[in-house]
Amino acid sequence: MRAPQLVPGDGLPSAVTIYDVGPRDGLQNEKAVVPVEVKAEFIGRLVDAGLRAVETTSFVHPKWVPQLADAEELLARIDLGAAPRMPVLVPNERGLDRALEAGVREIAVFGSATESFAQRNLNRSLDAQFTMFDPVVARARDAGLAVRAYVSMCFGDPWEGDVAVDQVVSVGRRLLEMGASELSLGDTIGVGTPGHVSALVNGFVDAGVPVDALAMHFHDTYGQALSNALTAMRAGVTTLDASAGGLGGCPYAESATGNLATEDLVWQLHGLGIETGVDLEALVRTSTWMAGRLGRPSPSRVVQALA
Ligand code: HMG
Ligand code: MG
Repeated sequence: MRAPQLVPGDGLPSAVTIYDVGPRDGLQNEKAVVPVEVKAEFIGRLVDAGLRAVETTSFVHPKWVPQLADAEELLARIDLGAAPRMPVLVPNERGLDRALEAGVREIAVFGSATESFAQRNLNRSLDAQFTMFDPVVARARDAGLAVRAYVSMCFGDPWEGDVAVDQVVSVGRRLLEMGASELSLGDTIGVGTPGHVSALVNGFVDAGVPVDALAMHFHDTYGQALSNALTAMRAGVTTLDASAGGLGGCPYAESATGNLATEDLVWQLHGLGIETGVDLEALVRTSTWMAGRLGRPSPSRVVQALA
């Protein structure tokens, strides 16, 4: 299979952690429910392709996201120690109880930078989301779990329009102060551009947040995800979220489409000589297989070019 010619770039990290959200962010948005054995195989193949962080599912209300209502059954079928990080999404204490019961070692709470999305996604006000997360993070930490926190709508919101950097920094800092050790800044609807990425990362750094506590989560709605990822790396970010085959979206966010495709990101990183641990050929085979299960081609340009 073709590989990019290796030509290193300046001011970039030597290694990047790719945090694959395909099984969660990808499959939560599918119209049809994917059979649990297909999900389990998908996760196993991603781990075998060398991904070190794979977000497997969500312990949310099954009526809110029926696509992931099989979370318990799925986790019973997979080896949660197969990769260094295999987190699940957890919004509240009920979700945490379920995750602990299933034996997970890492959770991710998911906050919103805007009032409108907090209401739509969590049925809570912006302030009440922190009240919901506080005991979750405290109990998870006490149980020895790692905690990631997402902030959604960091670059724009479908109901409120522009979102101020200060607003995002204030929400993110509250989640870190609560005890999260990693913050994933979400461009939920994919509207961000590179200058905005720099401004946001600088906003956090100026507020005293170490850049290695930041991850970036780009959706590719407007085709900006790869340039945004490169800009984030130039600003010092070394954890990037992506979704195998470019699956994804959010059922509670108008106009959210697929995430940055993991294959497209890996092509760029390997061309720059940045270590990822990922076997691109095995990953493309996995996304091609998954596209067959879903009955439509992968939107990833690299999958299309290489498959
Ligand atoms: P609510 O209706 O306010 O819940 O929903 P509640 O606390 O009032 O509880 C109502 C009932 O639900 C109770 O049952 C609870 O036990 C039950 P009853 O006593 O009436 O029989 N319940 C649960 N059952 C199972 N698991 C649970 C759970 N919680 C409550 N965890 C809630 C509040 C947060 C639960 C709901 O709004 C929800 O599930 N939201 C999830 C939405 C979601 O998953 N969105 C997609 C993920 S976010 C995303 O994609 C963005 C991201 O990718 C980053 C980016 O792109 O920006 C992360
Ligand atoms: Mg997302």
